[in-house]
Amino acid sequence: MNVKKDKFEHWSAEDSATLYGINDWGAGYFHVNEKGELTISPNPDKDAPAVSLPDIVQGIRERGMNMPVLIRVSNILESRINQLHASFRKAIEQTKYQGKYKGVFPIKVNQQQQVVQDISRYGREFHHGLEAGSKAELIAALGTLHDPEACVVCNGYKDEEFVDLALFASMLGYRCILVIEMPSELDVIIERSRMLKVKPMIGVRMKLSTRAGGKWTESGGDRSVFGLNTAQLMELVDYLKKEDMLDCLRLLHYHIGSQIPNIRDIRSGVQEASRVYIGLVQEGAPMGYLDLGGGLAVDYDGSHTNYQHSRNYTIDEYCVDIIETVGELLTEANVPHPDIITESGRATVAYSSILLFNILDVARFDPVTIPDKIPENAHDLTKDLMNILSNINQKNLQEFFHDAIYNRDELRLLFKNGRISLRERALVESAFWHIMAVANKEAQKLAYIPDEFEDLDAQLADIYYANFSVFQSLPDSWAIHQVFPIVPIHRLNERPTRSGILSDITCDCDGKVDKFVDLHDELHTLPLHELKPDEEYYLGVFLVGAYQETLGDLHNLLGDTNVVSITISPDGHFDIDKEIEGDSVGDVLSYVEYDSKELITFFRSVAERAVRKKMITPAQRKTITNAFEDGIRGYTYFER
Ligand SMILES: Cc1ncc(COP(=O)(O)O)c(C=O)c1O
Repeated sequence: MNVKKDKFEHWSAEDSATLYGINDWGAGYFHVNEKGELTISPNPDKDAPAVSLPDIVQGIRERGMNMPVLIRVSNILESRINQLHASFRKAIEQTKYQGKYKGVFPIKVNQQQQVVQDISRYGREFHHGLEAGSKAELIAALGTLHDPEACVVCNGYKDEEFVDLALFASMLGYRCILVIEMPSELDVIIERSRMLKVKPMIGVRMKLSTRAGGKWTESGGDRSVFGLNTAQLMELVDYLKKEDMLDCLRLLHYHIGSQIPNIRDIRSGVQEASRVYIGLVQEGAPMGYLDLGGGLAVDYDGSHTNYQHSRNYTIDEYCVDIIETVGELLTEANVPHPDIITESGRATVAYSSILLFNILDVARFDPVTIPDKIPENAHDLTKDLMNILSNINQKNLQEFFHDAIYNRDELRLLFKNGRISLRERALVESAFWHIMAVANKEAQKLAYIPDEFEDLDAQLADIYYANFSVFQSLPDSWAIHQVFPIVPIHRLNERPTRSGILSDITCDCDGKVDKFVDLHDELHTLPLHELKPDEEYYLGVFLVGAYQETLGDLHNLLGDTNVVSITISPDGHFDIDKEIEGDSVGDVLSYVEYDSKELITFFRSVAERAVRKKMITPAQRKTITNAFEDGIRGYTYFER
């Protein structure tokens, strides 16, 4: 449908920046240049160089890579780590806190080797460590980082093999901490450490009563599935005392949820945990580390509120609140300040990845024109519908809206029963959608939009067919209705005159994006440009570096996208550091147990039979089987 066209005579790049909220959610990494192109900067400094995303797309295409592509910007990752450490350093200095800050990156948030390697490299000067939640993640951590001052925090359920691996790591000088999630893990740790003659560093995960708001509220509270309650914690302390191993208890861990939108919950959690920490020291445990888990949120919609996709605090405020709370409570209790660990995943990696894709086609919402005169013999309900169309206005909006739906439904029934003609039904449908378009326009002018009109925008929107899979590249958009900023990466100095939703190329009605970021609410449609003939239209989904890559699945056998890793140089150029080709059709078929050779052999024999039956010539057989084999080698997405 048309965006209020007449209202804007002129449109500038700044108008687009405001419309899409780029300065609100972009955190200083994303801007629009005067050519109307979206740009990336390596850090939020005002004078940082900016690289145009369309230039990057062109560079990628010239190198022969197809859309969709996931871009990883190494400098942004570096900037995020620097920022986190700078904020904690500032808070520590300001409050004269006596401990240090030791960040760890939870591998599960983005397990890709290049990302974990980059984090380890950029975090080296700060002794930034890794968090592993499984044996595989521990192996990834130990094979990536060896810094005796960086922590390797082992969460998750642990069998003997997991425990052995962590103990061997301790023997090699890794600062590897085994966090007990379930009371039964302690026996294995005691037994294996005695056997291997190594003193373990033990941590314990606590179920706090504090619950954080937002989507992950179940991660906290008494009924959370992970961690020990206070009674179990006391049993653990007594058991360690009995085994003469209380001196191994070094860390208290908790995690009350990811993406905590409200700073009050963060403060409340750290307050409760500080009290538990004090209690453990008073019981005689040496301790030394307080690990707050994840939760530092990303402001996906840029609203800076306690809405679930946002946060009502800055990183600086997060750090000060934590350091101040722990410092004050522990000083008061005369307990030495511990080193603070956070397991910030989302806030570390979200900004550095961008998904780019092209639009393949558009289904426009343009109701066909209605003839001036309606047939004499039209049904009374049809005439009534036409009357609604002529007379609907703000005052009768709700009444006429409901009447139109009633009439349309009744007339559909009449059509089923053979009482009105196909041509009359077509007229009814067109009139109905015209009425809906007027109703939507009028409803937008109301101070409060009644519930029944909320979805109308999306129903009247154009459908832009996008070359990607929601299930593979934005699983959280489908599974938990996470919103991500989505913006055209060019033509931003042109007024977007259409509004649309995105449909991906899976054959699934859930394969769509119809929720978009907004400062005040979620939008049901996205302002977009008309497609131009013979010109690609590219969109970017931003802030997709956390959780999306490995949670994605192979719905409709659309596989991993191409990945390109870039570094922005100080002179404003970009270097492509690494290209990782996405899955081929053969790759995804092998994941679901097909053998490409078998498929080819079968298909060739079908083609040979067709030659024998003279359905095709041998030359045609060659063309057809070549196309089949090329298909197996090709990208799983639309190529052009
Ligand atoms: C134990 C633990 N630590 C850290 C994280 C990362 O959280 P976030 O991405 O919010 O920083 C999670 C994620 O849920 C988690 O379960």
